[in-house]
Amino acid sequence: MTLANEPQLHAGADLSSVRGPVERALPEVERAIAECLDALPATLRAACIRMASAGGRRLRARLVLTAAQAAGKDADPTAPGPVAAAAAIELVHLASLVHDDLLDAAPTRRGADTINAVEGPAAALLAGNCLQAAAMGCAARIGADAVTLLQAAVVDLCAGAALEQENRYRADVGARDVLAVARLKAGTLLSAACRLGALAAPGADDGAVAALGEYGRLLGTALQLLDDLLDVTSSPALLGKPVESDFANGIVTLPALPALAADPLLRSLLRPDLSPHERRYAMTSIRQGGGVDRTHRAAVRHIARARMLCTGRALPPTAAAESLAAVPHRFLSTQLSLVDPTHRPLFSSLG
Ligand code: FPP
Ligand code: MG
Repeated sequence: MTLANEPQLHAGADLSSVRGPVERALPEVERAIAECLDALPATLRAACIRMASAGGRRLRARLVLTAAQAAGKDADPTAPGPVAAAAAIELVHLASLVHDDLLDAAPTRRGADTINAVEGPAAALLAGNCLQAAAMGCAARIGADAVTLLQAAVVDLCAGAALEQENRYRADVGARDVLAVARLKAGTLLSAACRLGALAAPGADDGAVAALGEYGRLLGTALQLLDDLLDVTSSPALLGKPVESDFANGIVTLPALPALAADPLLRSLLRPDLSPHERRYAMTSIRQGGGVDRTHRAAVRHIARARMLCTGRALPPTAAAESLAAVPHRFLSTQLSLVDPTHRPLFSSLG
């Protein structure tokens, strides 16, 4: 997909000079995560290792390591600071997913059985707590500022999850509420990833840290919108987790809003324990309402703004900034490749 009015990138940057060190740092990040998992209580360790090794793409770790290079002069992503920052972010991410699956009573994640489904809700609660504590331990290796940053991010993540719970089964939820949840729930972590990377790099200036934080927030928000989109347009086989579950769980997302506004019967179905027939009706109504295309366009707008932050004046024109500029579109195409072919006609512009 191409975007109109795309700004020119810094010409001639050698991206291998950025991506090579990131790829070399990733095994160090895996080692740091494995050390944290090994130190968990024996009764929770195997369950956490199962979830940690279930096909995550380490997108967040890569962002931390690239942001460190974009923010700091000659920052080495394989240095202990950026490695600890990347491990901390991946561990918080994992903790939040373990707790999210507990809240949603989700049976699978990334193709693996969830902790709440196998070991039970108590184990999931405790495992999430331990993973979060392990993340804080990693941040402490960078310094007090890093701990404060991560602590604030966890509070915002919880605020997003709490807001989502508060809005459950409410037909009067609007786009503003949905976007607020997406920004808090998903924008927060990627914003923290970029800022923590910057904090772990020597010589980062405040303007660059702020720009990286906003870049991460926009990218994370887009990620959540695409996740909500895939809930109504993908399949469990493509996604590795259940689909068609948001509305049935009372979670109102952007794709559902136009149908909810137009269809009184759909509004009446915003309650627990729908029959299979009611679930099918709800999904058909949502897909016919035009919300899929609207959500896709909102995600593309966030992606474009994120990219713009890397190509404008906010960041020094380095190969690392160019590498970050390429991430949003790559992510968009990866997510859109997970749309089930039968649902592609719901998009006005899927190449
Ligand atoms: C997935 O969203 C979940 C999140 C992005 C974060 C949820 C945050 C919490 C549960 C707060 C607890 C935080 C910590 C650090 C312990 P989703 O349900 O929309 O996506 P999914 O389809 O992948 O489940
Ligand atoms: Mg969930």
